[in-house]
Amino acid sequence: ISLKTYNTFGLDARAKYFIKVESLAELIEALSLDAYPDKFILGGGSNMLLTKDLDCLVIQVALKGIEIIDHQEDFVLVKANAGENWHEFVLWCLEHDFGGLENLSLIPGNVGTAPIQNIGAYGVEIKDVFVSCDALNIKTNKLETFTKEACQFGYRESIFKQAKKDQYIILDATFKLTKVEHQLHTEYGAIATELEAMGIVKPTIQDISKAVINIRESKLPNPKEIGNSGSFFKNPIISKSHYEKLKINFPEIPSYSISPSEVKIPAGWLIEKSGFKGKTFDQYGVHKKQALVLVNYGNAKGSDILNLAKLIQKTIQQIFGITIEMEVNII
Ligand code: EPU
Repeated sequence: ISLKTYNTFGLDARAKYFIKVESLAELIEALSLDAYPDKFILGGGSNMLLTKDLDCLVIQVALKGIEIIDHQEDFVLVKANAGENWHEFVLWCLEHDFGGLENLSLIPGNVGTAPIQNIGAYGVEIKDVFVSCDALNIKTNKLETFTKEACQFGYRESIFKQAKKDQYIILDATFKLTKVEHQLHTEYGAIATELEAMGIVKPTIQDISKAVINIRESKLPNPKEIGNSGSFFKNPIISKSHYEKLKINFPEIPSYSISPSEVKIPAGWLIEKSGFKGKTFDQYGVHKKQALVLVNYGNAKGSDILNLAKLIQKTIQQIFGITIEMEVNII
């Protein structure tokens, strides 16, 4: 079958065999199908670039359900199954007035893949409210629970992308959310500006969600209209001394200090400065409003997008001496 509607890049790669699993029992059964030795686990398909057809059994994890597992006076623990759409889950929390995920509104993908790259936006990362997740060990078929510490979260990183890569299937994730005295994160410049434009002085968590949605819709392409995987690259971290040298030729280079000796540089700026912003090559290119996002205008091939990404990496290396890492999984 075509995987076009199963990946947010909208790439028309094909799966030789495809199965959708809606329970743990179905998942274990699918994994044990010896007739198909090679298997590929698919979640929301929002963080991958398919550069070829998948000559194997694709298993789509579609476990649904949201449950309040602990209800205290000031907080709740909410467990969501892996196949829940991330944004719909955020909206569910907002309807119940549970706070903590509002800054992460409108991020594409599913609950089960969110911890893998510690999704983050507008001053909040999933790790800030994450409690634990249950995952199936593919080799032993046993369930294991990963606490927040065990997940080893970092900037767009976790143990599931590092030491335990491709060894587990995340089944659910549990979050600790506030019921009263929500902690609002409005420190990210664009949020404050947007709230002001909305005429809101005392924002609620629902207002923050709306502000984030407005900002995202103003610069990030909607995958339903233009195929994309959000930020294609990570923002690179460089030494302060490297940064000081770059400032001689590029005095306007933006940066965020992250330690006494290191700064983070927005990759979007580096890509724009290298002349790639809005560049279109037939069916694909660099988004016009946010240079960090590569887009498929309809019938692009994943391999073409990968070549463009490599060209961008090489150019930025040449101009700035900075290596930018791909955030998206290349398949
Ligand atoms: N910039 C440019 N040109 C561009 C884009 C950005 O010069 O075309 C510069 C500007 O200086 C701007 C700065 O980059 O002020 C930051 O831009 P933005 O606020 O759009 O954030 P970002 O660093 O480009 C990161 C995340 C996004 C997240 C936003 C908001 C990464 C890799 N990306 O982008 O996450 O939504 O911050 O918090 O960290 C994603 O991971 O898919 C994603 C969209």
